[in-house]
Amino acid sequence: MTARSPAAYNPMDLTGRRILVTGASAGIGRATAVVLAKLGARLVLNGRDEERLAETADRLEGEDHAIAPFDLSDLEAVPGWVKGLCADDSPFDGIAHCAGIQTLRPIRIFSAAFFDEVMRANLGSALALARGLRQKGCHADRAAIALISSTAATAASPGNVVYAASKGGIIAATKGLAVELLSDGIRVNCVVPSIVETELIERGKQKLTAEQYEHLRTLQPLGFGHPDDIAHMIAYLLADTSRWMTGSIVTVDGGRTA
Ligand SMILES: NC(=O)c1ccc[n+]([C@@H]2O[C@H](COP(=O)([O-])OP(=O)(O)OC[C@H]3O[C@@H](n4cnc5c(N)ncnc54)[C@H](OP(=O)(O)O)[C@@H]3O)[C@@H](O)[C@H]2O)c1
Repeated sequence: MTARSPAAYNPMDLTGRRILVTGASAGIGRATAVVLAKLGARLVLNGRDEERLAETADRLEGEDHAIAPFDLSDLEAVPGWVKGLCADDSPFDGIAHCAGIQTLRPIRIFSAAFFDEVMRANLGSALALARGLRQKGCHADRAAIALISSTAATAASPGNVVYAASKGGIIAATKGLAVELLSDGIRVNCVVPSIVETELIERGKQKLTAEQYEHLRTLQPLGFGHPDDIAHMIAYLLADTSRWMTGSIVTVDGGRTA
């Protein structure tokens, strides 16, 4: 028998892996960046707000990180932007795509502009990033993408239909991309969270009464989620722990859909 060394055993080790984290200026993306850096990854942090990206960078363990402010709704420009990030022979080992927007708006005030805004930010960005990553020189021999859907895709609430449709699209895209990117050595999986306490929820809270907010909490038998609850699953989906998973839809929802 040999001595136990639990501290040395880390199947989620990401030492040296280069990962693009979108939505890294807040909430789940920021928490994901902190967790991935602790696991040894070298990160490129994306969001639109340069100052908040720099704040995230300041919280990271390790030295070899960068920020890359960019609006992912500019779908045509995304592949070229990813290519630029990989110049100097530095492909990505993965993407944690945490960027997204949620605005409650009932269907009676639906507009094409609102549809474009939400679909581009939430779904189009995922597809454009996948196109970017699969380019020659942009991905390592084995790479992974982790996307974020939402329980909103299957559990309806008023005023949320466009967001819900965008997140349902993420589930379909996960499966389609997983099949299409097999030959590129890129795995694609997605996390389905219920309500996680982030800035996104904080903004929605302003429009709710205390009772309505409490009702939201009780929807999850385990209470609201913490951003780390999702960050840990994203790390699992980017690390070798999930080497036999692609096209998987992983629910992390405090028991909401149990
Ligand atoms: N919180 C929840 O309860 C919950 C539940 C289910 C699913 N989700 C999903 O989880 C993801 C993260 O949510 P969160 O709660 O962490 O949201 P958040 O706190 O509002 O953060 C959203 C992030 O997305 C970035 N972003 C938004 N639009 C962008 C664009 N066009 N280009 C680049 N970056 C953009 C923001 O960066 P800038 O502001 O710097 O642009 C910010 O970093 C979203 O996809 C959300 O739909 C959240």
